[in-house]
Amino acid sequence: AAVDIMYRPAIHYSPKLGFMNDPNGLLHRDGLYHLYFQYDPDASLAGHVHWGHATSSDLYHWHDQPIAIDETPSGEAFTGSVVADPDNLSGLFKAGQTGMVAIYTRASAHSQTQWIATGLDGQTLTDAPGNPVLDLHSDSFRDPKVIFHAPSGQWVMVVALSRLHQIGFFTSPDLQHWTEASRFGPAGLLGIDYECPNLVELPVADGGSRWVLFVSINPGSPQGGSCTQYFVGDFDGRAFTADRPVAQIIDFAKDFYALQFYAGVEKPTAIAWMGNWQYCQEVPTHAWRGLMTLPREMSLAHDPIQGLRLAQQPAGLEALRGPRIAMDPGRIDAGSARQVALPEGQAIELSITFEIDNDPSGPAAGGKGRGGRFAIEFSNDQGEMLSIGVDALAQQAWLDRSRLRGFSQPFFTGQFSTPIAPRDRRARFRIILDACSVEVFTQDGMEVGTALIYPAAPLNLLRLHTSGSDAIVHAVELHPLAKTME
Ligand code: FRU
Repeated sequence: AAVDIMYRPAIHYSPKLGFMNDPNGLLHRDGLYHLYFQYDPDASLAGHVHWGHATSSDLYHWHDQPIAIDETPSGEAFTGSVVADPDNLSGLFKAGQTGMVAIYTRASAHSQTQWIATGLDGQTLTDAPGNPVLDLHSDSFRDPKVIFHAPSGQWVMVVALSRLHQIGFFTSPDLQHWTEASRFGPAGLLGIDYECPNLVELPVADGGSRWVLFVSINPGSPQGGSCTQYFVGDFDGRAFTADRPVAQIIDFAKDFYALQFYAGVEKPTAIAWMGNWQYCQEVPTHAWRGLMTLPREMSLAHDPIQGLRLAQQPAGLEALRGPRIAMDPGRIDAGSARQVALPEGQAIELSITFEIDNDPSGPAAGGKGRGGRFAIEFSNDQGEMLSIGVDALAQQAWLDRSRLRGFSQPFFTGQFSTPIAPRDRRARFRIILDACSVEVFTQDGMEVGTALIYPAAPLNLLRLHTSGSDAIVHAVELHPLAKTME
């Protein structure tokens, strides 16, 4: 169908056919990035979950690989992680061989247990003898993420005890024998189920590092449906302690879920599923459904108001930049606009720094007042528009997909906002638009909005539009991005 082609992302991973959700088994090994994922190859609805697989040498050019883990009579192959075992600590490899080990959930109607599977190059992952390796006789116990904790010389698993709203911490010397070390929660947003925990040590912008525990919930997000939250704190090899009991939500829109961090990389890098369980099985593609976010480099930075916050930037995107599309900086008078045509069939990246030239001290006699609105509008001649911008008086940024006509469904809500307090009065946005997706990074990556978008026709015009006050565009850079996916 035409929509299957029109909505196919140019630089984001999406499956050729079938239904995809969570990223799994993210591992960088021997120069190759592995991306496994929750996948039903035979239907574009969730169910009959296998592990799909793609590989890449740069996180953008992805090559599809055969299914790596099948659904079996023991159950579907739910979310999990993969680690490299270069020293054969697991004892699962023959002398002289090393490989990779997947730790994942087998799920059937009344049971969720943790299994391990091994592979030499990751093409297929074969269930090891002795599964399951972890069984709490529970039907809501899933999504193990394993890291090697060097200070204690053992593996650490975080796994969701979903309905109890707890994250279990288990340790193991060999990936086969697991001991419960602690539990975290209930804490933060509970929703119905906790899912897909991740534990990672992230660098802090001005030095040092902190541990961060990510917990996805579904349903129960304040924006509706599924979302991912995180706690900043400390981890001693056995237990995680949060600095504050309150969690922060990663994204101000609603299509960022189940993020997972790569193993085997220097800079912490994560990929999430771009979707929401409220409508992912109804989005208007037919033969395929589901896409991943761009790979994102993650760190922590100090927000003057909220304290330590996750800071995100797309990883290595610069390498895809094509020749700059001309757009001038300078003043845009209140009520006027500046526009440029966009290429079709390619993703584009816009980086812009602007200032709403109002009067922050308030409307003195004849003064300009504190108001003013700056809008970044992607539109077409069908009257559709995706709008992103800043309202100075409200001190908020918005993302508005409500004027796109390709998809409507009760939960596919259109308008999102986040408070922003631009430093030095300048707002900085980095926006990546790619077919059915938009990712908006602002406040140095501390506010990010990730949204599926379904225009009925391609968005081929970019307009910068001011109202209520003049604006000064200090810098603007617009690039098409080289297509990496067929
Ligand atoms: C999260 C999730 C996981 C589960 C998987 C099933 O999106 O519900 O908890 O393992 O998807 O596909």
